[in-house]
Amino acid sequence: MTYQNLIVAIGERIATLTVNRPDKLNALNDATIGELGAAIDELRARPDVAGIILTGAGRAFVAGADIGELASQAPEAARARALRGQAIFRRFETSPKPVIAAVNGFALGGGCELALACHVRIASEAAKFGQPEVKLGLIPGYGGTQRLPRLVGRGRALQLLLTGEIIDAAEGFRLGLVNRVVAAGELAGAARAMMAQMLANGPLALAACIDVTGRGLDMTLDDGLALEALHFGDLAGTSDMTEGTRAFLEKRPPQFTGV
Ligand code: COA
Repeated sequence: MTYQNLIVAIGERIATLTVNRPDKLNALNDATIGELGAAIDELRARPDVAGIILTGAGRAFVAGADIGELASQAPEAARARALRGQAIFRRFETSPKPVIAAVNGFALGGGCELALACHVRIASEAAKFGQPEVKLGLIPGYGGTQRLPRLVGRGRALQLLLTGEIIDAAEGFRLGLVNRVVAAGELAGAARAMMAQMLANGPLALAACIDVTGRGLDMTLDDGLALEALHFGDLAGTSDMTEGTRAFLEKRPPQFTGV
């Protein structure tokens, strides 16, 4: 598929999805959000893709929802915009294939929310994070009020949400918003290296980790433990578990097939 505002590049089972509206700092207008939805569905379905890296073209990751479009929204349209974006970001979050945000620059508003919907965030030293919606008389509408406190705790999340302050990558790392900070020139390589490390493992096990941590956080501990045991049992019936355990015992690298 071809896209107006996205670039998709696939190699070595890794898809790199680049938001490409650099003159607007990759701001997410409705058209770009729609394309993100189509792209994540395409990449989830493609058999030649096992993991996804999301990044931005130019000096921004994504500088937020397109404020030009927000400026004229009426309540019903705004609610519909939030629900549509939330559903699309959820497709990233629930992807059984790992999704890494390689945050190259501004990740503000919807851009920070998009990074939060990814499984892991690697930031360049040039990255900046923030939820400045309150400065516009708004709140985040693409999941920021829900994912940020789950990731960094309510107090830290409310500090960012209520001040609208913009923080650098080092502070993002300190808060737990960012997994790793690297020099700007090393971002793409670091994201690929971490993805390659993930993709050396059993794909069914990766999908199970994503599912059980994602759903488990919304459950009681006992329900989450039950879900973990369910996946643990299912994986015991796979060829991948037979291969992974046998390869260890035979002191050789495993050859996973995803069945
Ligand atoms: N929506 C629409 N356009 C945006 C945008 C957004 N969220 N963020 C940046 N842009 C546009 C600017 O309007 C400008 O367009 P123009 O050249 O046609 O005037 C272009 O991108 C470059 O941005 P500019 O503001 O000139 O760059 P800067 O380096 O001076 O400032 C930011 C960078 C990120 C600090 C500033 O663009 C900003 O505050 N953006 C909005 C962030 C925000 O509030 N996001 C949450 C939205 S819910």
